[in-house]
Amino acid sequence: MKIRLYQASDLDELKRMTIEGFEGIAIDQNVERAIGVVGPHDWRWRKARHVEEDVLANPDGVFVAEAEGKVLGYISTRIDREAGRGRIPNLAVDKDARERGIGRQLIEYALDYFRREGMAFAVIETMVNNPVGQHLYPSCGFVETGRQIHYAVKL
Ligand SMILES: CC(C)(COP(=O)(O)OP(=O)(O)OC[C@H]1O[C@@H](n2cnc3c(N)ncnc32)[C@H](O)[C@@H]1OP(=O)(O)O)[C@@H](O)C(=O)NCCC(=O)NCCS
Repeated sequence: MKIRLYQASDLDELKRMTIEGFEGIAIDQNVERAIGVVGPHDWRWRKARHVEEDVLANPDGVFVAEAEGKVLGYISTRIDREAGRGRIPNLAVDKDARERGIGRQLIEYALDYFRREGMAFAVIETMVNNPVGQHLYPSCGFVETGRQIHYAVKL
């Protein structure tokens, strides 16, 4: 397994992996559960769109785990140079490749990238109904800084 920079031909696979991986834990899906299917697209479309936003916002900070030509996972990042803050908006590992340490290696890779870019600290968030994140992130050195409540209203 190697970790490499994102390339445009990865996009469809990253979107697929994201939709599959975030089933049951995506805030976009919670919105749909709470107030119904709203707007011109469903939660899957909205979640996949996050990946498009990530690769547009910081294409040099999206990293892909690959083995034998197959994409196994990815991590996206943002850099705020003025604040010295790195952020990890999205992380997913393909179902068949989970629990082999790939998620952890992707986080370590992103943290090294932030260090190289001179960032002073990094942030990540997870949903309260996502036990993996709540185990994985503290074990990578992150400390909890707050809990947020999300609301939505149908218009
Ligand atoms: C979160 C995710 C990226 C982790 O990827 P992964 O490659 O399976 O993670 P790792 O193999 O590096 O495992 C990391 C740790 O989490 C633990 N873990 C993995 N799956 C777990 C599960 N279902 N329940 C509890 N702990 C779990 C592992 O045991 C490991 O801990 P350890 O090293 O102390 O034993 C992957 O589960 C995923 O894509 N989930 C769906 C999308 C998602 O939740 N993204 C993050 C949103 S905040």
